[in-house]
Amino acid sequence: MFDVAKIREDFPILKREVNGYPLIYFDNAATTQKPKVVIDAIVDYYSNYNANIHRGVHTLSQEATEAYENARKKIQTHFNIAKSHEVIFTSGTTHGINLVATGFTSLLKKDDEIIVSALEHHSNIVPWQMLCESTGAILKVIPMSLEGELDMDTYDKLLNTKTKIVFVNHVSNTLGTINPIQEIIDKAHVVNAAVLIDGAQATPHIKPDLQALNCDFYVCSSHKLCGPTGVGMLYGKEEWLQKLPPYQGGGEMIAEVTFEKTTYAGLPHKFEAGTPNICGGIAFGAALDYMNHLGFDAISQYEDELIQYATAQLLAIDGLKIYGTAKHKTSVISFNIEGIHPYDIGTILDKLGIAVRTGRHCAQPIMDFYKIPGTVRASFSFYNTKEEVDKLVEGVKRAKSMLQ
Ligand code: ALA
Repeated sequence: MFDVAKIREDFPILKREVNGYPLIYFDNAATTQKPKVVIDAIVDYYSNYNANIHRGVHTLSQEATEAYENARKKIQTHFNIAKSHEVIFTSGTTHGINLVATGFTSLLKKDDEIIVSALEHHSNIVPWQMLCESTGAILKVIPMSLEGELDMDTYDKLLNTKTKIVFVNHVSNTLGTINPIQEIIDKAHVVNAAVLIDGAQATPHIKPDLQALNCDFYVCSSHKLCGPTGVGMLYGKEEWLQKLPPYQGGGEMIAEVTFEKTTYAGLPHKFEAGTPNICGGIAFGAALDYMNHLGFDAISQYEDELIQYATAQLLAIDGLKIYGTAKHKTSVISFNIEGIHPYDIGTILDKLGIAVRTGRHCAQPIMDFYKIPGTVRASFSFYNTKEEVDKLVEGVKRAKSMLQ
């Protein structure tokens, strides 16, 4: 039994009001709210053992180092990663992608090919375009269907011996499509291409087994799964992390420094220059503990029911169109009402205490594909309820009657 009323007690922010109405938070794909255990982990760190890590012999430094490295192990266990040094702490998904893209500059040559998908967030498009500019490599795109599914026949045709890297999101932030990443990874490996999976939107709903998936890189952000902002993880297979050069130079990532020559530290420190987000890493670990305690099977089953309910209720509104109707999708409903700008719907919903995201969702190519300026996006979490969905539907109807 998934006891949502009890779970909601864990989230202090869900008690607040916005514009005189109880907050209804449907912007979870942008960032999730934080349970008290995560907030407590942050307060505990700064109240009791704030110190820099890997640097001091003193007690506080040792306690902080142990807690931070313990969080790395929690991430390793959660994603079933073979070695803890294959877990690199980053500032978030965008940092992880840029680290890999920049690293590939030294591994690519002119006319090598890179494949991305039509469903990508700007953070999984722009770094590869920058990589193409600096290396002369060519960017190819797996097209999408009207339903928001990738055209896998075209993917087969795009793959060839010039393909060096494939970058695809696990779940689309805009349409919620769950992409067939196992097939994408297996096929890329036939031509010896590396694969990076952007897990930012999948990890709040799905617990991926990275050894089973056999991807070369996987990135995600803590703040999408109940942890703090400013911290994330890059998983890289050891052989790839050895091959890539460091992303930033500085303290912590070195073995020896002289003015003549510097040698680099081993993994994971080679990619972790400077003082990291220590508190964020520790709180990321606390968030994973919390979500695992709820159980990802229970979370995804509950969220699937919620999204099916919400889809049916919203589609009953005359003139409402949902973008993204893939067979496999999760947690996101993007929609518009004929003749009404998404911003106007979002503004009226906010007046009713309902938070949604409106606009292009950092995925302009998807908007161009549908020839629309943007959508209203309601994105769900395990702490949302059917009663909140009913309020959203009422709010959308009210916006429609005011604006049409
Ligand atoms: N990438 C985040 C979103 O989809 C910010 O809203």
